[in-house]
Amino acid sequence: MKLIKQLLVALVIASLLEGWWSCDGCFENERNALLQLKASFNYPERMSLSSWGLYTDDCCKWENIHCNSTTGRVSKLSIRGDYWASEWCFNASLFLPFQELTSLSLQRNYVIDCVENEGFERLERLNKLEFLDLKGNLFNNESIVSSIGHLSPLKSLNLAHNRLESVTDIQGLSGLENLEFLDLSDNNFDKSIIPLLSVFSSLKSLTLIGNKLENITDFQGLPNFKNLEHLDLRWSTLNNSFLKDIEKMPSLKILLLSFCQLNGTIPAAKGLCELKHLQKLDMSNNDLSGTLPLCLANLTSLQLLDLSSNHFIGNISLSPLGTLTSMHTLHLSRNLFQIPISLLPFFNLSKLKHLDCYENEIYADIDVPTLTPKFQLRTLALSGQGDGGVFPKFFYYQHELEYVDMSNIKMKGEFPHWLIRNNTKLYALYLHNSSLSGPLQLPIHSHVYFSDLDISDNHFNGSIPTEIGVCFPSLNFLNLSGNGLTGGIPSSFGKMSQLTELDLSKNQLSGIIPQDLIVGCNLLGYLILSNNNLQGQIFPKQATCELILLLLDGNQFTGSIPYSISNCTGLAVLDVSDNHLFGIIPSWIGNITSLNILDLSENTFFGNLPSSFVPPRISEVYLSKNRLQGPLTNAFYGCSELIILDLSHNDFTKRIPEWIGNFSTLTYLLLGYNRLEGEIPIQLCHLFKLRLVDFSNNNLSGEIPVEIGNLDKILLLNLSHNKLTGLIPQSFSNLTQIESLDLSYNNLNGKIPQLTQLYSLAVFSVAHNNLSGKTPDMVAQFGTFENRSYEGNPFLCGPPLSKSCSSSSIMPRVSEEDRKDHKKDGGFIDMYAFYVSFMISYAIMLLTMAAVLYINPHWRRAWFYMIELSLSNFYYFLVDNIPFVFRCY
Ligand SMILES: *[C@@H]1O[C@H](CO)[C@@H](O)[C@H](O)[C@H]1NC(C)=O
Ligand SMILES: *[C@@H]1O[C@H](CO)[C@@H](O)[C@H](O)[C@H]1NC(C)=O
Ligand SMILES: *[C@@H]1O[C@H](CO)[C@@H](O)[C@H](O)[C@H]1NC(C)=O
Ligand SMILES: *[C@@H]1O[C@H](CO)[C@@H](O)[C@H](O)[C@H]1NC(C)=O
Ligand SMILES: *[C@@H]1O[C@H](CO)[C@@H](O)[C@H](O)[C@H]1NC(C)=O
Ligand SMILES: *[C@@H]1O[C@H](CO)[C@@H](O)[C@H](O)[C@H]1NC(C)=O
Ligand SMILES: *[C@@H]1O[C@H](CO)[C@@H](O)[C@H](O)[C@H]1NC(C)=O
Ligand SMILES: *[C@@H]1O[C@H](CO)[C@@H](O)[C@H](O)[C@H]1NC(C)=O
Ligand SMILES: *[C@@H]1O[C@H](CO)[C@@H](O)[C@H](O)[C@H]1NC(C)=O
Repeated sequence: MKLIKQLLVALVIASLLEGWWSCDGCFENERNALLQLKASFNYPERMSLSSWGLYTDDCCKWENIHCNSTTGRVSKLSIRGDYWASEWCFNASLFLPFQELTSLSLQRNYVIDCVENEGFERLERLNKLEFLDLKGNLFNNESIVSSIGHLSPLKSLNLAHNRLESVTDIQGLSGLENLEFLDLSDNNFDKSIIPLLSVFSSLKSLTLIGNKLENITDFQGLPNFKNLEHLDLRWSTLNNSFLKDIEKMPSLKILLLSFCQLNGTIPAAKGLCELKHLQKLDMSNNDLSGTLPLCLANLTSLQLLDLSSNHFIGNISLSPLGTLTSMHTLHLSRNLFQIPISLLPFFNLSKLKHLDCYENEIYADIDVPTLTPKFQLRTLALSGQGDGGVFPKFFYYQHELEYVDMSNIKMKGEFPHWLIRNNTKLYALYLHNSSLSGPLQLPIHSHVYFSDLDISDNHFNGSIPTEIGVCFPSLNFLNLSGNGLTGGIPSSFGKMSQLTELDLSKNQLSGIIPQDLIVGCNLLGYLILSNNNLQGQIFPKQATCELILLLLDGNQFTGSIPYSISNCTGLAVLDVSDNHLFGIIPSWIGNITSLNILDLSENTFFGNLPSSFVPPRISEVYLSKNRLQGPLTNAFYGCSELIILDLSHNDFTKRIPEWIGNFSTLTYLLLGYNRLEGEIPIQLCHLFKLRLVDFSNNNLSGEIPVEIGNLDKILLLNLSHNKLTGLIPQSFSNLTQIESLDLSYNNLNGKIPQLTQLYSLAVFSVAHNNLSGKTPDMVAQFGTFENRSYEGNPFLCGPPLSKSCSSSSIMPRVSEEDRKDHKKDGGFIDMYAFYVSFMISYAIMLLTMAAVLYINPHWRRAWFYMIELSLSNFYYFLVDNIPFVFRCY
């Protein structure tokens, strides 16, 4: 008891001596100072200090505050703003009560030095401060920085993401002799700061990401950096002599040089190879080339090496990589390495966990000795091009795999279900386009970690195992498309309650969509069942629905569009084309406001189009090849963002409405094969984005408007098989990009205007009109057009027609009967083949863009393959004219 009393007395005396020791556990003056600090921000609730003072008076327990356990005083203080925080005046007086402060972090508060005499100059009184983080503020002048320069105990300083620019801005820092960590990333420094940095002779870590450090050819300024362990120069411009000079920093453990525009080869001696302590080296995303020098074998401490996205060549088995036994993570993707599928060169890397080799040349090695690998990999990406022979044996020895990607390698063999069985933590297996075959045999037990399976575009056959949903209950992403799978869709899919993306397209699946699939997988966002033999209703009568994309095209579905689809309030793409659906197109489709693409073509929908039957933000509508009829009146009222409108091959009548001129974004307009009549509305000529217009095989009459020459982006114009009269407007000569122009089978008369400057024209026909005079000179593009382009114009003469212009003869008029005979014979050009192929490509591109909106890596991946496929069919002019297609990569 006595002892306790004595202790208590001692404690009381000690706290009296200390002054304001509060019974609440923290010093009152510090608590008050913290509350004052909080009050000084306009929006404290949006910062890391929002909870201060709310739940306890012990400020040592407040968020982002740390007190020294001996003295009870605040020693660490962190105030993090957000990107919407407004500027904050730095007032040093607010910090002076914290006498023991060793660490201060003021990230992203947009601190400005606006309090006269109480700003940064007084900061130097915080003479215990060792760690100062001012990342992401608005410092742009030397005064603030030079006051920091008086904080001589400072060991770590972060000034990243400020607005510092020149050497003079940071000259004031030169007093910080104890500085060990310096981060000046994302300012506007150029290389003139490099010599200045040499005053920090104790520096262990220097980060200079994303400045304008161009052409740092020699680092003469840095020979003092004997202690530097961490150098981060990402996003600087370096040239490869830097890789020789780097030996001047012999202690380096971490060297980060990605995105530095390094080119040429890695020097084969000195330089980089001298860095014996190096543990982490990132040289990804440069232009380095050549083979890897053997001296890299000296980097025996290396644990992480990233060489991805360069142009390195050579066979990996001849490289020094196989000797770097400390290696844990190796990134070689996107190079030109040759890598044996056996992974034999890496067998000695016993610590290797992550190996990433995708987009290199994978090859089958001939004689694989019966060795076992020393590694137990966790992630492996070997996808690339090449012929891998049989499914590699090293997999037999792996049991810690979590992620495996072996896509795009030709391999013989069956589905490696044992791989899933052996590796209980496996969550992703990608075997896209790998030439595997046989039935889809699943492991016997249920695998609860398994979430992603892509075996698309292989030769698997047989049916989908009925127990699939039991076997993989946590599956999130499943792609079985492009195989030869037959039979029905098992209803056990409904057990995969996590499923968000399912692609079973391009198989020979039959039967119906099991109700359980839609009802059980209520997180399903992407459902792709295109190109199978599925039948029945497309959707259950009652359903909840999270679908974003529903592609059911190319099946044998029947019935109408069920009203339950209107429950899919996030649906962006609905494609039910090429089925046996029928009925009237429901007007409630217009209520699915998220809908971006609607494809109902090639079904048997009939009746008039309801007014406003599509939501106003829709961008693509395909209704071709149905039995729709009536005038177009108000069907597309308010659709201001329409890009593609395809109403061809229906039975629409009356005039082409004038409101067509309101669709300022319209690019593809297909109204061919209907019974439209009247004149071509002049409003059409306001649609400057138009690239493809097909009005062929209608009953349009009147003259072609002269203003059509305004459509200078147009690539294809087909007005054939109508009743147009009058002259071919001279303004056609302004359609300088046009590649296909078909005016055949009309009643046009007069002369063919001078069109020789249409250098892109590949297809041209004015056949079967009443044109007269001389054919265009056989120059430029016009040298390639034959008789067929001009035939059936009795008064037309000159080459390539056999009739010479000197003679004249009376020709019989083409009778109405003849016209009728020709009417539905497909006309001059195979229009269908011409645009179908690039409409498909364009649709796929837009689909992809829609998909990217709902970003999901698996999804992106899946579409990436589809794009690749479709690109090979891509019309070359789209390549020239819609460059953003390629930016999608
Ligand atoms: C607490 O403060 C004392 C006295 O200033 C100091 O010696 C000690 O290192 C500090 N403790 C910690 C954990 O910072
Ligand atoms: C700075 O803080 C001190 C202490 O809280 C206060 O007295 C002073 O008024 C503040 N200065 C300005 C300009 O806000
Ligand atoms: C860097 O070097 C390249 C070529 O060596 C030169 O074209 C460029 O102007 C240089 N940039 C600067 C900022 O000196
Ligand atoms: C590296 O880049 C520089 C400047 O862009 C260029 O002059 C040099 O030829 C390139 N070297 C190699 C090997 O490509
Ligand atoms: C690397 O090691 C080899 C021998 O292992 C040695 O000859 C060489 O000097 C070392 N340094 C370099 C840069 O190659
Ligand atoms: C993995 O499966 C293969 C094939 O069934 C088998 O030979 C091997 O022993 C298994 N490996 C492990 C680690 O279970
Ligand atoms: C729409 O979803 C709700 C639940 O969100 C459900 O109760 C309702 O039956 C569904 N309606 C239709 C027509 O499927
Ligand atoms: C479509 O939305 C409108 C307006 O919100 C509503 O009046 C109408 O009933 C809806 N139509 C259907 C079929 O749900
Ligand atoms: C072609 O366009 C030019 C300028 O855009 C215009 O001056 C000219 O009149 C047009 N030619 C015809 C025949 O419309």
